[in-house]
Amino acid sequence: MAYKRVSDRELRLLRPLPVFLLFTGSMIEGDLDVMTLSWVTPLSKRQRNMGVVVEKGNYSWSLLKKYPWFTIAIPDSSQADLVKYVGTRTGREVDKILVTGINLSPWEGDENIPFPHGFMGVLVARVIREVDFDASTMFVGHVEGAYADIDAYDDERGWVIEERKPVLHLAKHFFTFPCERVSVVNTRWGIGVKKPWRELFKS
Ligand SMILES: Cc1cc2nc3c(=O)[nH]c(=O)nc-3n(C[C@H](O)[C@H](O)[C@H](O)COP(=O)(O)O)c2cc1C
Repeated sequence: MAYKRVSDRELRLLRPLPVFLLFTGSMIEGDLDVMTLSWVTPLSKRQRNMGVVVEKGNYSWSLLKKYPWFTIAIPDSSQADLVKYVGTRTGREVDKILVTGINLSPWEGDENIPFPHGFMGVLVARVIREVDFDASTMFVGHVEGAYADIDAYDDERGWVIEERKPVLHLAKHFFTFPCERVSVVNTRWGIGVKKPWRELFKS
């Protein structure tokens, strides 16, 4: 194997990254938007904080500045066309929620916050901090609600990818879907499992 030097779009090497839909705006005021988002990161498990990075030119960015909350929806492989559409059109020109027919209701914890239906998962967060970059802002959200399709999520094993597959983005209009669950227990150097579970795998 030989490396080739990549000197353009270097961060693309970090992909595939999962893609999400970011919902912003107010159900009560009626100004709402949705966009595709892959710059998402967990920040603190204990405090349930996550970061979303949104470019300043996006309409969603203006709505996040106005209304300090957001909702993340997790689309599945059957919704890749939706991912592409809301990631390539702006809410300044088209009402993407109306055009795509995404069903929103007020979130049970705050009737201002949009709650989308039909996705494998949904997270609702309130913005607690902003980190400014040149052309984008990281909005740090404290997760106040998390929901998963009852058939597609297992508390122990995570997403049941045999049931619904999350969408991962590679580059431009190229996407990929995970298709295999691999359980890595035995390693070349011994059993690589946390101590409390090690006994279970001894036999
Ligand atoms: C696969 C994919 C991933 C994207 N990820 C992000 C992202 O993480 N942050 C961002 O600001 N824009 C991202 N975009 C671009 C926005 O979705 C796009 O600019 C959108 O049109 C913004 O819509 P708005 O103006 O209605 O907010 C992504 C687009 C695609 C197709």
